[in-house]
Amino acid sequence: MAQQPAQYIFAMQGLTKAYPGGKKVFENIWLSFFPDAKIGVVGVNGSGKSTLLKIMAGLDKDFTGEAKPMAGTKMGYLEQEPQLDPALNVRENVESWCEEKSSSRASMKSRWRWVKTTPTS
Ligand SMILES: Nc1ncnc2c1ncn2[C@@H]1O[C@H](COP(=O)(O)OP(=O)(O)O)[C@@H](O)[C@H]1O
Ligand SMILES: [Mg+2]
Repeated sequence: MAQQPAQYIFAMQGLTKAYPGGKKVFENIWLSFFPDAKIGVVGVNGSGKSTLLKIMAGLDKDFTGEAKPMAGTKMGYLEQEPQLDPALNVRENVESWCEEKSSSRASMKSRWRWVKTTPTS
């Protein structure tokens, strides 16, 4: 049987990002990730890590080029400085951002930011 072509869970093609009135953070970035890959983004302060993750999460759409998850992929984004629920312990706070992992889902309001994706074809 013929092997299936590689399916990337997320692909960026020619991604360029500049803040209005600010410097260009990325120029012509090409990156693709396989499903199940664990990726770390490393860089000095101000190098663009948060900008990249917000684009990948679909929270920042003000860029040129392509940044697309595979059709049907569910994206989650845990903010760097999240609003914590004082009624929950640390574990429960983290779980409340990830509804699939939550042990007491019914009692927690999910604060994980889900991004709806649309099939591309
Ligand atoms: N909303 C914004 N408006 C203008 N410039 C911004 C904004 N957010 C970030 N920047 C600038 O973009 C660059 C990348 O920032 P950021 O993605 O927050 O970096 P990191 O997360 O790696 O520290 C920095 O120079 C930062 O000052
Ligand atoms: Mg950051």
